[in-house]
Amino acid sequence: MSPLQASRFLAKESRLVHWLGSSHIPLMAIRKIARMGHPVLSRIAEPVADPTAPEIRALVSDMVETMIDANGAGLAAPQVYVPKRIVIFQAPAERSPEGIDEAEAYDHQAALTVLINPEIEILAPDMEAGWEGCLSVPGLRGLVPRYTALRYRGLGLDGQRIERVAKGFHARVVQHECDHLDGVLYPQRMRNLADLIFESEARHWLAARAKAEARSKEETADA
Ligand code: NI
Repeated sequence: MSPLQASRFLAKESRLVHWLGSSHIPLMAIRKIARMGHPVLSRIAEPVADPTAPEIRALVSDMVETMIDANGAGLAAPQVYVPKRIVIFQAPAERSPEGIDEAEAYDHQAALTVLINPEIEILAPDMEAGWEGCLSVPGLRGLVPRYTALRYRGLGLDGQRIERVAKGFHARVVQHECDHLDGVLYPQRMRNLADLIFESEARHWLAARAKAEARSKEETADA
């Protein structure tokens, strides 16, 4: 680990301590991530009876560490083989709650949300296609249509109610993570499986699309 990596790691750790609201962090562990095909990813997850239970806090701590280690933007409990209705995600900087400083916003480590028993209310019928990946579908990327505006509600680790309006990428992440609780993976939301590609081929895909778009523009100009 380089000094820079080490200082980033420590900064993350101190943010986790801050975020979990306790100096008594249970011993965290990186958990194994279930991959597409395992039945835990295709079942309906169970509601959490007591969000404040110590085992829920321990599970969420592990989920946070697992997500950061795997460099994901979000994680749902079924992805670590626990079929309970819990998701965590990092909302993008522009949607962060107030009080997040510039450095944290830049680092994209801030605004970590824990949502227990979440519910989504779609606010507008508009959908937008965007690229998604999933830690349970490693190496692949897909172009997925998602609603652009929604309201979500759920409970935090202390049992407090959380209610927020989300747009754009924030709304996309919430839909992706909550789908995991209903046994749905992003390829099932895709309209065209030709847009399911290996991450390592993304630059070729984008180059081919740019070429095709330039060609269609030329044709329009000729017409
Ligand atoms: Ni996922």
